[in-house]
Amino acid sequence: MKISMNRKKCSAVVIAAGLISVFLFSVSPVADAAESMAVDARKKLMKTKIGAGMGQMKKGMKAGDTAQMLKGAEMIATAAVKIPAAFEKKEMMGKTRAKANIWEKKSDFDAIANSLAESAKAFAVAVKSGENMAISGALKSVGANCGKCHKMYRAKKKKK
Ligand code: HEC
Repeated sequence: MKISMNRKKCSAVVIAAGLISVFLFSVSPVADAAESMAVDARKKLMKTKIGAGMGQMKKGMKAGDTAQMLKGAEMIATAAVKIPAAFEKKEMMGKTRAKANIWEKKSDFDAIANSLAESAKAFAVAVKSGENMAISGALKSVGANCGKCHKMYRAKKKKK
């Protein structure tokens, strides 16, 4: 008799624990995925479009490849105007180096993104002019916009 009571209690605990874990599993991963999708998307934009565009510009300059330089400029100009929307809502879940002050000074942040787009277009104009001084000056302006925004709005890499 005593044993069977304990069994009942035991199974009640097991069922309760089971229900709790089902609940936790069904709630938290969904929330995590939703949070980190925005973070993923903005990092992807930065890396595969803007960072890669910068790479194309620099490689093109080394190789004297005008088409490659223009391709890089186009990549950045197109992607930079997407930065404001990519950082629309405050999302800090997951692996991110974005600083919370972005969403306190969103219009300033967005303005730097627009300057980046403009500087990439100016770079393309310089490339078409064929003047090396103008090209390297324009590249510096592009780089200055990356630096300006990262300094203000991106946290330093964590030391491992
Ligand atoms: C308007 C602001 C802004 C500008 C302009 C900007 N960045 Fe960023 N960038 C950020 C922020 C914020 C992050 C951090 C995003 C995160 O971790 O969530 C970032 C992250 C990155 C990353 C890392 C992405 C990853 O996979 O984690 C690279 C690479 C990068 N930027 C390159 C560039 C280059 C190159 C330029 C200029 C051509 C540039 N960025 C211009 C705001 C900016």
